[in-house]
Amino acid sequence: MNNELTRRNFLKAAAVSTAGVAAAGILGNGVFSARAEESAAAAFEGKKKFAGIGSPRMVTDDIAYLGVSDRRIQLFENVYPIPRGVAYNSYLLLDDKTALIDTVDRSVTGQFFENLVAALDGRTLDYLIVNHMEPDHSSAISEVLVRWPEAKVVCTAAAAVILNQFFACDISDRSILVGEGDTLNTGRHTLTFVLAPMVHWPEVMMTYDDVSGALFSADAFGSFGALNGNLFADEVDFENEWLPDARRYYCNIVGKYGSQVQDVLAKAGTVDIRMLCPTHGPVWRDNLGWIIDKYVHWSSYTPEDDAVMVVYGSIYGGTESAANAVAGLISRAGVQNVAVYDVSKAHVSELIAEAFRVSHIVLASITYNMGIFTPMKNFLLDLEAHNLQNRRFAILENGSWSPVAGDLMVEIIDRLTGCGCVGEKVTILSSPDDGDAEALTALAEAVAQSVLNAGDAEAPEEAAAPAARWVCKVCGYVYEGDELPEDFKCPVCGVDASMFEKQEG
Ligand code: FEO
Repeated sequence: MNNELTRRNFLKAAAVSTAGVAAAGILGNGVFSARAEESAAAAFEGKKKFAGIGSPRMVTDDIAYLGVSDRRIQLFENVYPIPRGVAYNSYLLLDDKTALIDTVDRSVTGQFFENLVAALDGRTLDYLIVNHMEPDHSSAISEVLVRWPEAKVVCTAAAAVILNQFFACDISDRSILVGEGDTLNTGRHTLTFVLAPMVHWPEVMMTYDDVSGALFSADAFGSFGALNGNLFADEVDFENEWLPDARRYYCNIVGKYGSQVQDVLAKAGTVDIRMLCPTHGPVWRDNLGWIIDKYVHWSSYTPEDDAVMVVYGSIYGGTESAANAVAGLISRAGVQNVAVYDVSKAHVSELIAEAFRVSHIVLASITYNMGIFTPMKNFLLDLEAHNLQNRRFAILENGSWSPVAGDLMVEIIDRLTGCGCVGEKVTILSSPDDGDAEALTALAEAVAQSVLNAGDAEAPEEAAAPAARWVCKVCGYVYEGDELPEDFKCPVCGVDASMFEKQEG
């Protein structure tokens, strides 16, 4: 067999055949075997690969769901544990023209292409709409472009740049760059593009379909968790089984950018949205106000619940014992559903999500290396990184000879907008004793009264609204303050102050 000739023929076939993607992938890895050639040849002869009985799942009469769930992944973004897995959602509009909306992570491209080929059912792909360039949604783009060379890529200018950075994929000769309010007609449908910078990358946009009222919302309204057959949020027990992961997803992934999320929510309020189609998690077609209300709370840093979490960092049990005592006293004072966490065991992403949920946070830390216990310090710095605001804290410190953790924790809290402490800091020496009972009780009482009176005089003071917002015209980054410093550089895209536009507060 003339292998070189076979290879050329194979490449040619791969370029023109929708089944050629398997071959392109093999060649890309530098491995080419007779066995691969045979299996690819079988595909070229018209064999339809199995895409699942009943596949594709339809979102509407002419919008197919092509997403794939990954239950093997352990850490999302190599940081966040996801024991329930995750779904990478992609959608295909089957109008006079066909339009694919986002792709998937590289871990699931095999199933994705089977879904896409099945949904196209022999039709060509006219458009690939890239709402979000992060690789968990864009890893299949290069392959799509090889397999459907006539497809145009619809995206923001920033997305085209980042696409090239990640995948050396130059789309300049086949891209349609869009901005705020631009439209694309596919026949019966008109798609409108809505910019959503920093939700949660600078290139993000959303796509609104006028026929279905679907907003393809990129990461917004997404959740950790694999889809287990049910596609729609109203088909699962979302509040009990999904909400904690939806919250953990939002707060950890997007939480820092509440201001930008608020901007998008304001735009969303001006159109008739009847479905939310995110890139992760279930699709929303019912009770949209419920999940939007969650986003209003999270993005405005408003507690969901008047509730308490107690987080302790303890080595030999003294601090743990004191924290448990405070939790019990808070409960005895009438506060329900107090949650206690060992900062050394709970994953910090869970603690971040809980901090976004509750109104009050009790911190109990040993003093360690003349500082805050390391996992507690990491938690607090992560809270600061995620821009948590408008919470009340209570402080309990421990130290066997020189307790300092409390004041150091307060230093971090003081940097959080709209945050402050209730009650008097309690200091214990090594382990609590009867002499600490009065102080611990007083601290618990102060927390309980603050929780029970939330909404009244004891409610956290809202941060004063800044006089103005300065919005980067390139990426949408928002600087809040009365004046934008002349030498300011956008921390996201690097442009200077002249590229910022002032919005009155
Ligand atoms: Fe799911 Fe921002 O990527």
